[in-house]
This record gives sequence, C-alpha cells and structure tokens, in this order.
Amino acid sequence: MTDRLSEEGLTAEVLARLDATSDPRLREIMQALVRHLHAFAREIRLTDDEWLAGIRFLTETGHKCDEVRQEFILLSDTLGLSSLVDLINHSDVESMATEPTILGPFYVPESPWRENGDSIVEYDDGGQPTIVRGVVHGEDGAAIAGAVIDVWHNAATGFYAVQQPDEQPATNLRGRFRTDADGRYEFRTVRPVPYPIPNDGPVGHLLRETGRHEWRAAHIHLKVSADGFRPLTTHVFDRQSDYLDSDTVFGVKDSLIADFAPGPDGVLVCEYDFVLHGDEQGEIA
Ligand code: BEZ
Ligand code: FE
Repeated sequence: MTDRLSEEGLTAEVLARLDATSDPRLREIMQALVRHLHAFAREIRLTDDEWLAGIRFLTETGHKCDEVRQEFILLSDTLGLSSLVDLINHSDVESMATEPTILGPFYVPESPWRENGDSIVEYDDGGQPTIVRGVVHGEDGAAIAGAVIDVWHNAATGFYAVQQPDEQPATNLRGRFRTDADGRYEFRTVRPVPYPIPNDGPVGHLLRETGRHEWRAAHIHLKVSADGFRPLTTHVFDRQSDYLDSDTVFGVKDSLIADFAPGPDGVLVCEYDFVLHGDEQGEIA
C-alpha cells in the first residue's frame, strides 16, 4: 500500500495516478516531470514562501507575454533550455553540416525576396557597411543552386525592426535570397551589434538577481533551406564581438564565428559557407 505521509510515498502516489494516461509519450513526460519536480523541491527543501514566490514569478512571466513578446521563451533561453533542446534534436556529431542554433523571438516570416547582391538596409542608422557572401553546398561539397537564405538581424541601435515599428521600416535588415547556379549568395547590410535581450520583465529581473548580464554577442540570423536537405536555423557571429564567451542565451558555437574583414572602400566582408545535410527523402530521391 502507498505510504501517503512520507515524501517518497507522495511522489509514488502522484506517479501512480498518471499511469492511466492513454498517450504513452504524455505519460512518460508527465511522470518524468513529477519525478524531477519533486526531487528538486526535496533537494532544496523548498519553503512555503519560496513556493509562492515561484508561482508569482511564473504568473508575471505569463502576464508579460503578448503577440510579439514571449517571456516564457526568454526564460527558456536564459536557462539554457532552448539551446539544450536544440542540441538534443539537431546536433549530429557525425554530420559535416553547419551547426544550428536557436531561432530567437525576432524572426518574422515572409521577408521580402531580394536579388543576390542587393542590400537589406532600408533605414540608415550609421551602421558599418558590410557584404555577407558565400556558398551553400551539401556534405559532398556539391553546390546547391536555388537554396533559400532567409536573413534577419539588428540595427546599429541594437534593435530589430520588429522591436521598433515606429522607427524602422518593418522589412529593414530582413530579406530572402536564392543561391545562383554555383550555389552562391551575397547581400549587403550593416554590421550587427551586441544587444541586451528584452530585460524589463521578470526574466531581466532574474538575470540581475543572479548576477548575470543581458547581452547577446553580435550575430546575423539565417534560415537556410533547399529541396531534399534538412532545413537549417543558425547564426553567424562576429569574431570581434564582445560576449562570445558569455552570450546570455548560450547560442554561440565556435564553428559559427566568422571574420568581418576590412574590404575595399571601407566595406567589411564576411564570407561564410553553409553546409546542408541531405534529409531522408532527399537521400532516397
Ligand atoms: C535573438 O537572437 O534574437 C534572441 C535570442 C534569444 C533571446 C532574445 C533574442
Ligand atoms: Fe538575435
């Protein structure tokens, strides 16, 4: 018989009630959640006040969410959970493919299509002119023509267009490109800058309380896709940036760090090639 009065007995009782869950994956998830949650409370000897503070924190986190602000994802990001889920699902040590990293909250679908070589700058805020270019190819080295590169990054002010709807045009520093017959892509932009993640909510408060900073290392976000290949969501980081070693959302991977090197006419040049992994269908086809 279950001993309901002991800590371990209570845990066992909750787990047993979940045995009836018909979806096996949901059962597995809920039972693991209960096991770990109870173990956590026992380990730290959670007090009544701390339990209530936790409930209040999660309530405030929910209240901070709206159509464009997702404070729970920010919480997941700053606790390293988003990067862990990314590692669990998309990290394949055998693969030569470009490493993925987190999507972040500022992706907006349906960016304008632009021609190779075009600029994504629609609003001059004094950022340092930069050309980004390279080749998209498969793990066998063969160039991929017609691959789609969907790019977005922040302005010299530190903000993404979606964060400043009254100042920046909605499509500033965003665009979709297709690789040419040789798999090449190229676009003009301005150098991205380090920026603090949104910090006026409970997650920012928690970062300060735990002695952490709020900064992300400077990066360009990209989604790269092509028929027959696994879609890639990643960043290219600026090697000169601060915070590469302490990115607040744990998104930096060494292989994603690139040079923004001085080129002609004071324009910086960032060369970065993307390698896509052939997906199962693509390999059979
Ligand atoms: C971003 O890179 O856009 C980002 C990622 C996680 C949290 C906040 C911003
Ligand atoms: Fe970003």
